[in-house]
Amino acid sequence: MLTEERVSSILSKMVDPFLHKSLEETNGILEISVKEEKKHVSVKVGIAKTGTAEQMTLQSAIVQALKEAGAETVGIRFTDLPQEVLAQFASNEGSTDQGLLSPGNKTTFIAIASGKGGVGKSTVSVNLSVALARLGKKVGIIDADIYGFSVPDMMGITKRPVVRGEKIIPVERFGVKVISMGFFVEDNAPVIWRGPMLGKMLHNFFNDIEWGDLDYLLLDLPPGTGDVALDIHTMLPVCKEIIVTTPHPTAAFVAARAGAMALRTEHEILGVIENMSYFESKVTGEKEYVFGKGGGQKLADELQTKVLGQLPLQQPDWNEEDFAPSIYAEEHKLGKIYLDIAKNITELA
Ligand SMILES: Nc1ncnc2c1ncn2[C@@H]1O[C@H](COP(=O)(O)OP(=O)(O)O)[C@@H](O)[C@H]1O
Ligand SMILES: [Mg+2]
Repeated sequence: MLTEERVSSILSKMVDPFLHKSLEETNGILEISVKEEKKHVSVKVGIAKTGTAEQMTLQSAIVQALKEAGAETVGIRFTDLPQEVLAQFASNEGSTDQGLLSPGNKTTFIAIASGKGGVGKSTVSVNLSVALARLGKKVGIIDADIYGFSVPDMMGITKRPVVRGEKIIPVERFGVKVISMGFFVEDNAPVIWRGPMLGKMLHNFFNDIEWGDLDYLLLDLPPGTGDVALDIHTMLPVCKEIIVTTPHPTAAFVAARAGAMALRTEHEILGVIENMSYFESKVTGEKEYVFGKGGGQKLADELQTKVLGQLPLQQPDWNEEDFAPSIYAEEHKLGKIYLDIAKNITELA
């Protein structure tokens, strides 16, 4: 039999989509009336924000639960919870599991750093993200190189993120959720913000983006050890790092500074990736160490970590129908190396 008590117990377990608390906790069950003979239930529910997609989802969940309990027809009215109630929960809001920076979050952050530009940091970031996604992981990437953003072009992204409610939905490409400063500037205009604005933008990249459930969030850091790099280092209390270098000893030397910054902010270094390690002749198979040799290992020794992989010089094969100029296919020689590095990473972090 469908009684008011039964309806109340069903509703009390439903969760407010914004406060992430049960309706019982938010006192969100405002009215219940049951017309036994007609098997009709009508309820009035208070939630943090009405007129949203989240309300629709909750509405169908309630209707379904009540129908399963025997109701033939269900009427629901939604209303906004009073400000006092919202204020009561407001302080807790940031600490729900929903927030990427909340303590309960299970996402592993991996920042990709380098001592200087041009060593392939972004190339490594995008390909490692794609490789992790190819392994079935849920992956996001933040193009945190605010001034030198390049991730959208490298991945061949032509779409822009859409806004839902107060959140921005990242663009998905090769199974990776992507957010970049490049999405928010017009026609490749240069970014001229500084200091506080930049910090705010980065903060938004974590808090205003609907990331959903992620296993890994990779960050393509700005090169070097400047302000933005430091901001990110300090913003993320728990973050692993991968340092990218070329094999030249001086490159490794400069990269060591990025490593030192990671260590100072107590970020665990997962390892070093040596990019542009050698050129292999397609004709003879001979390897030529055009940028020198040993830089990756030298850096790894210095940072007391290991070399996660070495990538030779080679371009991806372009495909006009699905253009992504920097992404190596899974069967490509470099695609396979990235997959090996990604497997290694899933074991480490
Ligand atoms: N292994 C590689 N083989 C050939 N070209 C590469 C390789 N890695 C990177 N590149 C190229 O080198 C340039 C710099 O790489 P990029 O990822 O933009 O570096 P960064 O982000 O460190 O500035 C790009 O044009 C990129 O396509
Ligand atoms: Mg870059």
